[in-house]
Amino acid sequence: MTDRYAVIGNPIAHSKSPLIHAAFASQTAQDLSYERLLAPLTGFAETLKQFQATGGRGVNITVPFKEEAWQFADELTPRARLAQAANTLVLNDTRILADNTDGAGLVTDIQHNLGYALARRRVLVMGAGGAARGVIAPLLAEHPAFLVIANRTVGRAITLQRQFSPYGIVEACDYAALHGVQFDCIINATSASLSGELAPLPSDVFAPGSLAYDMMYGAEPTPFLRYAQEHGAGHCADGLGMLVEQAAVAFHLWRGIRPDTLSVINQLRSI
Ligand code: ATR
Repeated sequence: MTDRYAVIGNPIAHSKSPLIHAAFASQTAQDLSYERLLAPLTGFAETLKQFQATGGRGVNITVPFKEEAWQFADELTPRARLAQAANTLVLNDTRILADNTDGAGLVTDIQHNLGYALARRRVLVMGAGGAARGVIAPLLAEHPAFLVIANRTVGRAITLQRQFSPYGIVEACDYAALHGVQFDCIINATSASLSGELAPLPSDVFAPGSLAYDMMYGAEPTPFLRYAQEHGAGHCADGLGMLVEQAAVAFHLWRGIRPDTLSVINQLRSI
């Protein structure tokens, strides 16, 4: 029997996850299918339960259901608990295990694929929503010199700073407070790129040789990446590598096999 997996979101038509998991399955000779499931905005639980009841073995969760998925699980990995969101569920007949592989995906893409060690680096995370919350603990685990969370609404950054300060040196501020401070790694975890916008980031934050990373991806460079390039970032990267890496961690959780990711990243770039 072919094992069934799916990604649940709304909207979902644009999701690259079926392509990625099909490539992983063919590479590792795993007998599985992977489909897109569009859940109504108020119907995540129903969609998930139905998939589970008809033999679904695992799901990925995307916008806007990651927080709901976390609350729904019977068991949480420590990183899903810290993120207060889940992007991967392991299903059996009666139980649901929730994990969050986004942070691991980001860290692997930065350190392994882009060759940029985070230890002792000055790291800036822009944004204090769900996307930021999911990656802060995995970033701190790499022992940066310090990590600053900057957000338009500074109160949300302070909330995250309080939550994550047991795990490393974390500061919180608004964008204006960044004037005159330089960073080695600047990560855009805001949703501004989605609407073609850019957070009010001072132009002098990019240290020579710094890495500017946008967790979003698209056919064209995002406004943040264009801005970074114009203002001295040494290297710019979008979130396509993170997308493939978080999928690889989910695949490993489901199938016990770690797929090769670089070939899949290259394949997606060439589409
Ligand atoms: P997600 O789950 O994608 O993180 P979210 O929880 O709605 O979504 O958070 C969106 C983040 O992007 C927030 O940090 C938001 O800043 P505010 O908390 O001040 O709203 C940030 N954001 C969105 N659009 C932005 C813009 N144009 N400029 C700056 N920050 C923006």
